[in-house]
Amino acid sequence: MTIHKNFNLKPYNTFSIEAHCAAFAEVTSVEDVQAFLRDNTMPIQLLGGGSNVLFLEEFYNRFFIKNSIEGIKIVQNTEGGDSGNSGSVLVEIGGGVNWHEFVLWTIENDLAGVENLSLIPGTVGAAPIQNIGAYGVELKDVFESLEALNVQNIDIQTFTKQNCHFGYRDSVFKNELKDKYLITKVVLKLQKTPTQLHTAYGDISKTLSEKGIENPTIRDISNAVMTIRQSKLPDPSVIGNAGSFFKNPTIPKTEFDVLKTKFPNIVGYPNDREGVKVAAGWLIEQCGWKGKRFGNVGVHERQALVLVNYGEGKGLEIKDLSQQIQASVFEKFQIRLMAEVNFL
Ligand code: EPU
Repeated sequence: MTIHKNFNLKPYNTFSIEAHCAAFAEVTSVEDVQAFLRDNTMPIQLLGGGSNVLFLEEFYNRFFIKNSIEGIKIVQNTEGGDSGNSGSVLVEIGGGVNWHEFVLWTIENDLAGVENLSLIPGTVGAAPIQNIGAYGVELKDVFESLEALNVQNIDIQTFTKQNCHFGYRDSVFKNELKDKYLITKVVLKLQKTPTQLHTAYGDISKTLSEKGIENPTIRDISNAVMTIRQSKLPDPSVIGNAGSFFKNPTIPKTEFDVLKTKFPNIVGYPNDREGVKVAAGWLIEQCGWKGKRFGNVGVHERQALVLVNYGEGKGLEIKDLSQQIQASVFEKFQIRLMAEVNFL
């Protein structure tokens, strides 16, 4: 394992913020991390694909460990029963595998379940931390278990779906176990033929019919999701960003109904019996922020939920912009937006 001193993290965060750390190392195996942690005395910071973090400062006393544990393998193959279902597989994936490369692997191997999650930046190990989701599917829908290394006592521990406490863009690893575990592998359950294709959300069915596809395969859905994402979301390799900066807030239905009388076009989806999930992108756009640029940073022109770094932006400039957006959304709609991105 090579240790780089005084390392520039700019290529390791999709916001492309320049920040330096005392030391940086990529770990490729569990033994690697254990050996390293046994000797280490410096405060450590775990990093996956860097696609959901905003660096606010320099880290001159911190050791960054990037999880690059590779590997994808089928560990269990279950035949289908008489009920017409064609069976499932359990796939074990290294925490450092690039998420989208894994999705492409599932398409090549005709395994259904994650096609709607195509093109999400980041790593497989980071996916459970915020329960990644898009186009009607969340990681928790296919999640079986994960293995993680406790960075304090270097023990390996298994987490089932139940003890991950998954919620909307949330899990135990964003709360009481924040920064305490390095996720070494994730096990997902995929279907050999799709039991359910999710085409109802957003523009998927429209995109499929534009392409003249009536009976889509998982590859068709993956391609449609990629087309939609590429048309709306900026490519982090071209312009720095971390996807949605805020979560879509859930408000009580009674509050939503009052807002609806004042703002008839407000976009919201019933969430549970009492709540409505409001499209934060719509709220931000109504406050006039969409496409606005302020020096090095700004709000994306096609999706107001995405804040961007035009090149030389600082983490604090993005944070400052995000706070101004929160204040104006609160003033107009009395709704508090919460960041989805982690501030470091
Ligand atoms: N909208 C606007 N203006 C905007 C953006 C959106 O009016 O600038 C409206 C749209 O017209 C639409 C609604 O808001 O009616 C929802 O927009 P969209 O389908 O683009 O999805 P989103 O709610 O803004 C969420 C996720 C995305 C995910 C998409 C698709 C969150 C915080 N974001 O965005 O996830 O790709 O749905 O499923 O839940 C991410 O987490 O980084 C991310 C990109």
